[in-house]
Amino acid sequence: MAVNVAAWSDPVRQPEPGRLRTWHLVCPSESLRPGQVMGFSLGGRELVLFRGQGGTVFALSAHCAHMGTHLAGGTVVGDCLRCPLHHWRFDGSGACRAVPRQPEVTGRPGQRPFPVVERHGAILVFNGPVVLFPPPAVGDAELRWRTGPAVTVRCDWLPVIANSFDIEHLRTVHRRELWDAPTVERPDPFTFRLRYTSRVTGTGPSDRLMKALSGNRIGVTITLHGGTLLSVESDLGRTRSALVAGLHKTPEGMSVRLAFAARRSHVPGMDGVSLAVSRWLFTAFLRRDLSVLHGMRFNAAGAAEDPVLRQLLDFTASLPEDRDDERG
Ligand code: FES
Ligand SMILES: [Fe+2]
Repeated sequence: MAVNVAAWSDPVRQPEPGRLRTWHLVCPSESLRPGQVMGFSLGGRELVLFRGQGGTVFALSAHCAHMGTHLAGGTVVGDCLRCPLHHWRFDGSGACRAVPRQPEVTGRPGQRPFPVVERHGAILVFNGPVVLFPPPAVGDAELRWRTGPAVTVRCDWLPVIANSFDIEHLRTVHRRELWDAPTVERPDPFTFRLRYTSRVTGTGPSDRLMKALSGNRIGVTITLHGGTLLSVESDLGRTRSALVAGLHKTPEGMSVRLAFAARRSHVPGMDGVSLAVSRWLFTAFLRRDLSVLHGMRFNAAGAAEDPVLRQLLDFTASLPEDRDDERG
């Protein structure tokens, strides 16, 4: 497909990933136990997460509605978060529920709540007052998930995303060829998906295992959900595996946290083995990206020569960001 590269001399404005109105992967579920609190930021917005004693996770604006104390130093009391300074208590909806020596709290200011779900072994927070689309549901109940530590890639957001949809680098970096033409889908305004079937041309240990497991026919579905969550589903014929990557921009670069999945086994003790194999194969694949992404300065005009990346850039430029008048 011919692409008018000159049109990109006036680059389309791309969003700031931390401000995208979408689901953001904050941390593994297991890192926030009942009664624990943690602070985090999204594009300059400060939030706190806490898990109530009942087990539910809540996200609230971080600075206390009373005098602005950061609530990351607060204490969980039941399913409320108590401010460390004057002990006002806020429930998971952000409403003020108790103030010391004040029997009546109606009308007191409260915290801004943010939607939270736990999925794929991780805590996801929606950056905005109203959920615009459901959190991604990758795979099915047959898959078992485990979230790993975050890795920092020293580059911006777009290079990480573009790499995932870059067909040409499959040959040069990953040593894969496609069996047929890839297909792009945009099922809704928040979802960009690429499907292809590949075969292994590399000869390293992970290449050989992948070849043996798949019969050299690997069905791949890569989906970008709202700009901050990437999922990769691999169909290897006899088995399947999946990966969800949460992207979070930090001053050092892009922090990428991976949740791996493998099919549940009916053989006792085998779940851990198949998860380890899934993780090893995905990690071996992604390690090849890390070295080329470090230090990359993304050139949108060059990327737009590729028809899939051109569509991807149109998609990312159309994603909604939250507005300054809604931040706090
Ligand atoms: S600043 Fe939080 S209760 Fe006063
Ligand atoms: Fe890659």
